Amino acid sequence: MTNEVLTPTAQPDEGAFEETLRPRRLAEFVGQPRLTANLEIFVAAARSRGEPLDHVLFAGPPGLGKTTLAQIIANEMGAEIHTTSGPVLERAGDLAAILTNLQAGDVLFIDEIHRLGPAVEEILYPAMEDFELDLIIGQGPAARSMRLTLPRFTLVAATTRMGLITAPLRDRFGIVHRLGFYTASDLATIVHRSARILGIAVTPEAAEEIARRSRGTPRIANRLLRRVRDFAHHLGTADVTLEAAQWGLEQMEVDAFGLDQLDRTLLLTIIENYDGGPVGLKALAASLGEDKGTLEDINEPYLLQIGFLQRTPRGRVATPRAYRHLGLNPSGATGPLFEDAP
Ligand SMILES: Nc1ncnc2c1ncn2[C@@H]1O[C@H](COP(=O)(O)OP(=O)(O)OP(=O)(O)O)[C@@H](O)[C@H]1O
Ligand SMILES: [Mg+2]
Repeated sequence: MTNEVLTPTAQPDEGAFEETLRPRRLAEFVGQPRLTANLEIFVAAARSRGEPLDHVLFAGPPGLGKTTLAQIIANEMGAEIHTTSGPVLERAGDLAAILTNLQAGDVLFIDEIHRLGPAVEEILYPAMEDFELDLIIGQGPAARSMRLTLPRFTLVAATTRMGLITAPLRDRFGIVHRLGFYTASDLATIVHRSARILGIAVTPEAAEEIARRSRGTPRIANRLLRRVRDFAHHLGTADVTLEAAQWGLEQMEVDAFGLDQLDRTLLLTIIENYDGGPVGLKALAASLGEDKGTLEDINEPYLLQIGFLQRTPRGRVATPRAYRHLGLNPSGATGPLFEDAP
């Protein structure tokens, strides 16, 4: 049910495209001003002391730049980066092997860190805190434990689910930052930057239109730019103009807020089946035949951000704005509403 041009998760064929567009330095990273200003200060301080940066945790929905920032940190520190992820580190030994291969100052990037198993997480605590690794050598009565000293490294971790990070793990990060959705103006800047790299001519109005419909997500903005270029080509215009962008976006069924079919069905279900809410996420997921995690990670954060959904102690509620966007009357009686939305 999810429109594939609007999904914030990376598509299997998108890796090379994304690499080309990834900012390499902090100065190239658009938006998230508080985060970049702080990182600049922390990086400069660590460098002047000749020490590695504190461990860093980035949280936020997919496609907002967590992996990009991990690589930028390594570049700014002049450090090697080693990349792995929670689901890949199945056994404690997998992490121990990576840790013992680090050099002083290296960056270890663990993506999806909320998916680390408890045994692996245990190894991480002393490694982060004291740069020590406790190994059990051998089995049974012959087993003995051995303590290794690790080089000082920086752990950069990313998660889409801050709520699943255990308190002892979170407390071991010196820098914790949640990434928020991007403003339309930052996204327009990203579209222009990407267009320059890809050699696409895009008018300011077209860039703004793409930005508005990108769900606050750079990954989606870049993807829409690439697709809209094909529509412009089909129209025979050399530039991506506003007309070409609007036509392409319509063809791809991207609505004015970047809502996809699942977002709309979700809102309609709350409105029509649950009288506008409140309804629990679990019941909603069951009604929609969707995975609760997908709704929580992908649909909900953006709908909350644009004020279409509200989270109350008793469940989710559709707001009057959501009714109006769907052409419905928020006063309760469902039916068409003849008013300019939104
Ligand atoms: N601030 C930014 N400025 C310019 N481009 C950006 C920015 N943030 C992200 N991008 C672009 O968006 C794409 C996705 O970013 P990235 O892979 O870092 O997201 P992510 O948060 O790691 O997503 P996921 O949770 O799926 O791993 C990249 O191609 C990157 O070039
Ligand atoms: Mg990532």
